[in-house]
Amino acid sequence: MRKKVTVIGAGNVGASCALRLADKELADVVLVDIVEGVPQGKGLDILESCPVEGTDVKVTGTNSYEDTANSDIVVMTAGFPRKPGMSRDDLLLKNASIVKACIEPAAKYSPNAILIVVSNPLDAMCHVANKVSGFSKNRVIGMAGVLDTARFRTFLAEAADVSVENVTAFVLGGHGDTMVPLVRCTSVAGIPITKLIPEDELAAIVDRTRKGGAEIVKLLKTGSAFYAPSSAVVEMVASILKDKKKVLPCAALLEGEYGRSGIFVGVPCKLGANGIERIYELDLEAGEEAALNRSADAVEELVGVLAANGY
Ligand code: NAI
Ligand code: 2OP
Repeated sequence: MRKKVTVIGAGNVGASCALRLADKELADVVLVDIVEGVPQGKGLDILESCPVEGTDVKVTGTNSYEDTANSDIVVMTAGFPRKPGMSRDDLLLKNASIVKACIEPAAKYSPNAILIVVSNPLDAMCHVANKVSGFSKNRVIGMAGVLDTARFRTFLAEAADVSVENVTAFVLGGHGDTMVPLVRCTSVAGIPITKLIPEDELAAIVDRTRKGGAEIVKLLKTGSAFYAPSSAVVEMVASILKDKKKVLPCAALLEGEYGRSGIFVGVPCKLGANGIERIYELDLEAGEEAALNRSADAVEELVGVLAANGY
């Protein structure tokens, strides 16, 4: 039987996820949105691309969670994107209410699903999704690290003039300006990146990576990135559905790892059929540990605001 993936939110990220899932023939896709007609129209449009693409999947759009029943994976993309001048944190309470409204029925109809959260501010929205769904921590995963790392790898490959495929890197921490691109763990086909790119250029790339989301917002003016984010989501979905056990940076609920508890932060995770099957703890140097703690503190602050507002 084919796998079933529900994508909540038929906007830029959601529709792009649905298209990539269908193109890769990974699963039947149900696209849900609050706006009538939009998920149905986009779903039908994607379905009609399947004969040309040569893919046999069902793609449907709906406004009802009944149609999402028994999904293997639910991807949560509904919510406001930021506009120029806004930080991801400015979206906190508006998107928390949307995440609650969507995850409650989604979890009811797909009690065994794995949730991949995309809505921003990412780490805080994972917290809301986790509480509302009541799912075990291996089944609530935030997408941000794959995207941030993809940006980092793109800039590094350009600077070193090598294939992006050769660049291995990791970005840890929360999905905000305090994220932690780990230069020490970055290499090109095993060659440490510090041997290929001068220190000042590397520092500029780290800074550009941290501000990668804002760079796109500034260019688009009316919303935020969606092509690279949807690629990142689909890499995670594929690793779970195919039980590939890829090690990817994902937002995971920490319970003592890296000295933190009770918050979602980006860390290296093994993604397989059971969702997060392992969190890897890297031996961080003092500066890296301090940077990760600063990033985790920023997430904790948002979680405090959520708690004060009943989430
Ligand atoms: P968008 O505005 O294009 O789409 C959002 C969709 O959510 C709209 O179709 C809207 O009708 C729908 N929606 C709103 N309330 C809803 C509800 N209660 N139920 C169902 N659907 C509802 O926004 P876009 O660009 O798709 O971004 C979506 C979210 O993903 C934003 O919060 C954005 O910041 C976040 N994002 C996160 C990334 C990450 O790395 N974690 C990357 C890119 C975007
Ligand atoms: C990004 O990094 C908006 O969080 C989103 O592009």
